[in-house]
Amino acid sequence: MGEPDRPSTARMIDFWLGGEHHFPVDVAAARAFEQAYGPCAPVFRALRAFLGRAVRAVADRGVDGFLVFGAGVPTMGNVHEAAPEATVLYTDVDPVTIRLGQRILAGSDRAGYGYGDATDIGTIDPAQLHRFVPGWGRRPVGIVFLGLAAFLDDATLSRTLDELYAAAAPGSCLAIDFDTEELAGYPEALAMMGPSFRMRAPASFRPLLGRWEPTEDGIVPVTHWRPEEPPPALPDAFHGAVAVRGDD
Ligand SMILES: C[S@@+](CC[C@H](N)C(=O)[O-])C[C@H]1O[C@@H](n2cnc3c(N)ncnc32)[C@H](O)[C@@H]1O
Repeated sequence: MGEPDRPSTARMIDFWLGGEHHFPVDVAAARAFEQAYGPCAPVFRALRAFLGRAVRAVADRGVDGFLVFGAGVPTMGNVHEAAPEATVLYTDVDPVTIRLGQRILAGSDRAGYGYGDATDIGTIDPAQLHRFVPGWGRRPVGIVFLGLAAFLDDATLSRTLDELYAAAAPGSCLAIDFDTEELAGYPEALAMMGPSFRMRAPASFRPLLGRWEPTEDGIVPVTHWRPEEPPPALPDAFHGAVAVRGDD
């Protein structure tokens, strides 16, 4: 596979998680970001641990099919590893990350990887969707929307989440995170995130979910979402929730 000439946040996260699926350009960007911000590995490991707890909580509700948007690299505790009984379709828009994901999952009959723009679910290959998320629209599924809200403006994010609500069957669950304004304290690091990156105040998170109803756990710092051990003391960079589709 050819080397990408630009870094991707997803592959930078793989580097911070201790994975093996990134390129020198990603490592250089990750190191430059850490110069401006400080150590990132503990922050992204806590975020990946939240993914694991959220996905297992959804699977415990009887959900056995997951659709993942902005999926990044499908390793290091990603969805099919957190819910080994489930089938999973990973999607992303970055062609290098998609090819990487397809190579990692080659031969798996439980997890696949394809193109999917979260803001337009019609871009997902229907054959892949029905193979890996059987009963989509008819039975409850898990929708994983992590590391993505910060790259969508409020109007696009609200519309997207509402379209997913309309398309998913009642009882479906959404795992989502939001970036707080913590990064504003590091202007150089913030500038590296590019012009489309959005930080938000916690008061804005619930309205953006629209009809999706957060579980009783609420929308809280990811380290505080059903912690299995005392939460580590980390920067308050991400808040997360699992939200459920009702019957309307
Ligand atoms: C910060 S990474 C998160 C990766 C992974 N979800 C995680 O939490 O480790 C964001 C990912 O979203 C993808 N992305 C950006 N805009 C997207 C869109 N409109 N639809 C789907 N994926 C998108 C990027 O290509 C990138 O892989």
